[in-house]
Amino acid sequence: MKKNIVLIGFMGTGKSSLGRQLARRLGYRFVDTDSAIEEVTGKTVEQIFRRDGEIRFRSEENLLAQKLAGQSGLVIATGGGMVLNQENVELLKQNGVLIKLWAEPEVLLQRVKSKKRRPLLRRGDLRENVLRLLQERDGYYDVAEFTVDTGKLSFGEAINEMYRYI
Ligand code: S3P
Repeated sequence: MKKNIVLIGFMGTGKSSLGRQLARRLGYRFVDTDSAIEEVTGKTVEQIFRRDGEIRFRSEENLLAQKLAGQSGLVIATGGGMVLNQENVELLKQNGVLIKLWAEPEVLLQRVKSKKRRPLLRRGDLRENVLRLLQERDGYYDVAEFTVDTGKLSFGEAINEMYRYI
């Protein structure tokens, strides 16, 4: 059975764009958890945070992790907060290889300028928010068995690194 490839990491590390391409290369189906949640709920990530609150969004993430744990042959790009819940980590690991994507804060800051789908960055100073969240989440992404620095590598090189590992 083909194990799922699960990309985890902070916002702006390239999980969705690299994941989509990696899935193509492997012939796997691509799942972006934010998009999947938007489909299931019929609301945007932004709307869920604003109308129902972050806790509701996290519970949607958990329901999705339960569903995905039973599937195979997927490349899954997770939202940056998916692995804050240890239960999600365990679910995604059941039939998945976790890969951490990472980049220096300065690189992330350039990339997260688009706040679409990122309500956590919407209020206040972007730099402060990113640095604070990075600090709060220190260690959470280290549950992966392989790490790729997407700041130092080109898009193609990052894909190759992951492909070789798999
Ligand atoms: C979040 C990251 C976002 C999205 C939501 C919350 C987070 O996904 O799930 O805004 O808590 O880090 P990306 O990592 O794809 O931006």
